[in-house]
Amino acid sequence: MKKLMTIATFAAFVFLLTLAPATASETEKVFKFYCAQCHGLTGKGDGPNVTKDFPVSPRNFTNAAEMNKLSDADLKNVILDGGPSVSKSPMMPPWGKTLTAEQVDGLIRHLRTLCQCEGKQG
Ligand code: HEC
Repeated sequence: MKKLMTIATFAAFVFLLTLAPATASETEKVFKFYCAQCHGLTGKGDGPNVTKDFPVSPRNFTNAAEMNKLSDADLKNVILDGGPSVSKSPMMPPWGKTLTAEQVDGLIRHLRTLCQCEGKQG
């Protein structure tokens, strides 16, 4: 009986996860998996992949002054199409084929939480 309860609880948990694809914790997972190795777990641009051979540093997402120069649409473009699409470094890969629209929207909200800024409007 106890085992059954455990299985039922687990099934309910998995079901809830699939119901809410872009919750904050899902977004954190996406960020950790795809972005943190360069941008760092806390978004400071200091991920473990970054070496001194990097021609540019990954954007520090906690820098509100820099992040305020970008609108949410700008963030979306660079996340979907990569650095070169906005005349930035190809070290920033395109994610349009990897991430869903919900995941990208979740990431944009996450970046706004990290910078505690609203970004350029319009
Ligand atoms: C392989 C390393 C790498 C990974 C992985 C990576 N980035 Fe980047 N990212 C960069 C670099 C380098 C830049 C700086 C490009 C420049 O300034 O020319 C950058 C810049 C950016 C910018 C700022 C662009 C601008 O116009 O200033 C955003 C937003 C961004 N990345 C989001 C993300 C997100 C979201 C993810 C995860 C889905 C991600 N990056 C994964 C390396 C990476």
